Amino acid sequence: MSESGGSKITVKSVEISAVLGWATTPYNLYLQLPDGRFLTLLRAGNPIDRERLQKYVSRGVKTLFASEQELIEAVSSEVASSDSSKFETLEKVSEKVFDELKVLGVTEASFNHARAIGKAVRGMIDREPRLSAAFMKFQSLNRDDVRHSLMVSALSTVIVSSMEWIKPATQENVAMGALLHDFGKFMLPKEILDKDPRTLSTHDRKILEGHCEMGRALLSQVKTVPEEIQMIVAHHHERSDGSGFPSGLKDMYIHPLARLVGLANELAERYEDDRAVGRETTVRILIETLINSQGSKFNRDLIKSLRHMLDSDVLTKR
Ligand SMILES: [Fe+2]
Ligand SMILES: [Fe+2]
Repeated sequence: MSESGGSKITVKSVEISAVLGWATTPYNLYLQLPDGRFLTLLRAGNPIDRERLQKYVSRGVKTLFASEQELIEAVSSEVASSDSSKFETLEKVSEKVFDELKVLGVTEASFNHARAIGKAVRGMIDREPRLSAAFMKFQSLNRDDVRHSLMVSALSTVIVSSMEWIKPATQENVAMGALLHDFGKFMLPKEILDKDPRTLSTHDRKILEGHCEMGRALLSQVKTVPEEIQMIVAHHHERSDGSGFPSGLKDMYIHPLARLVGLANELAERYEDDRAVGRETTVRILIETLINSQGSKFNRDLIKSLRHMLDSDVLTKR
């Protein structure tokens, strides 16, 4: 990328198809000209001009470029604008979520295991300044989003720990990926986030769907966040039968850990719906209902593991 001082700047490619799902761009996006020079196409903070981008797509352009240095600054600027009080809300909400998990019929041993992993993961976020500041920005958005993220993380941990073949480090990555799965939402316009997703126009829905790629793009700038976690965030709404978003990927193309967190996300949403109307439920009922009504949307082996879990000592009997 050209620069007045002549020093080399590292560039990173960004798919136009992903950018089309964003509301605004968090960093400058450049177009590479045939002679190799870069032209600024969209400036950081500006709304995405879809019509203009579509013109480039019709001319065969598939990729734009960002400067790695500017990407890092985009995450750092979120750090600067975040609150300095450390994880107070997160810890408070976390205690409540784990209390609920106990009521939902998770046995003592599984509950303690999930709580210990949750604590370790929050500690890991806390120790990474860029991540903890960005997470605080996320938690300042809406308490329900934080509660939801914690519940998805707790449920993912309970499910993954019932699969003995998964290593402890992977269990932590699942818990962390689940905690951060909706992270990209903090870059979306508040008026879209505040609406009931079922009432969104096609255009606004597309913007909302952009939270997966936006979250992945932001987390990719934090060196300590493993690729696995980025993939959980990118793929958590993809479904094995291809009915998910943003890319409609089929089973084998979805990251295995994202299949699991996607399933926990679905369970959490069902639980939240029940909770909103005061309907009593348990993790066992949520899983049974999910298997019966939407089992075909999820990976077969994962559904098999869930059935096995129903017969194990992870959940209390009815
Ligand atoms: Fe999501
Ligand atoms: Fe979610």
